Amino acid sequence: TEFFENGQQLTGKKALVTAGPTYEAIDPVRFIGNHSSGKMGYSIAEELAKRGAEVTLISGPVYCEVKNKSIKLIKTTSAEQMYENCLANSDFDIAVMAAAVADYTPVAVAPQKIKKTEAELIIQLKKTKDILGAIGKEKRDQQILVGFALETENEEENAKKKLKGKNADIIVLNSLNDKGAGFKNATNKVTLFFKDQTKKTFDLKSKELVAKDIVDAITELM
Ligand code: CTP
Ligand code: CA
Repeated sequence: TEFFENGQQLTGKKALVTAGPTYEAIDPVRFIGNHSSGKMGYSIAEELAKRGAEVTLISGPVYCEVKNKSIKLIKTTSAEQMYENCLANSDFDIAVMAAAVADYTPVAVAPQKIKKTEAELIIQLKKTKDILGAIGKEKRDQQILVGFALETENEEENAKKKLKGKNADIIVLNSLNDKGAGFKNATNKVTLFFKDQTKKTFDLKSKELVAKDIVDAITELM
């Protein structure tokens, strides 16, 4: 029945998805990263492709694999590379920025492996470019932009701030208060915040099913 319900409803639509962490090089052998598995973004890419969208998936370093052969996978490492590739693919109908992009990157990459000569080591960091923010700034009316938010305090207030600040149509708030949700897990519990001030809360479920809920919400906006 699913085929008839969701069928090829996104045929002819272009989708851009980001997934996974970014790695910010410190020296030739070390980096600053995070525990994002990429699972949420890859599941969204698969769901969009299943419904007929032409998907470009810009991925950080992950162990996930793309199943749908129609998905165009672009592998990146750093926040800067992810930014460049996203802006080069900003001609989308739907964009879902699920990547856990590093907020800071080393000011300079040491040309050689850093030796442990000093008792304390200070690595100076600078802010990375906000991909979702940049895409949001140049967004056209017909384009649908979805961002994620991970918060440990004032969840709702911060999610609403991100919705407005980044000019997104939907912010997906990952709940950290629930066991089994977020980052490393195969399951997730999310709340969707929309521009019209409404929100939708979902139960804890597999990331594949969360991806369906998110894509359903996107198609309802279209
Ligand atoms: N994001 C991005 N580029 C960045 C940082 C974040 O595109 N350099 C995107 C993420 O993919 C996510 C959204 O912005 O969709 C929110 O990420 P989050 O880390 O929750 O918020 P930040 O804007 O980075 O703010 P902060 O970490 O200070 O809460
Ligand atoms: Ca951040």
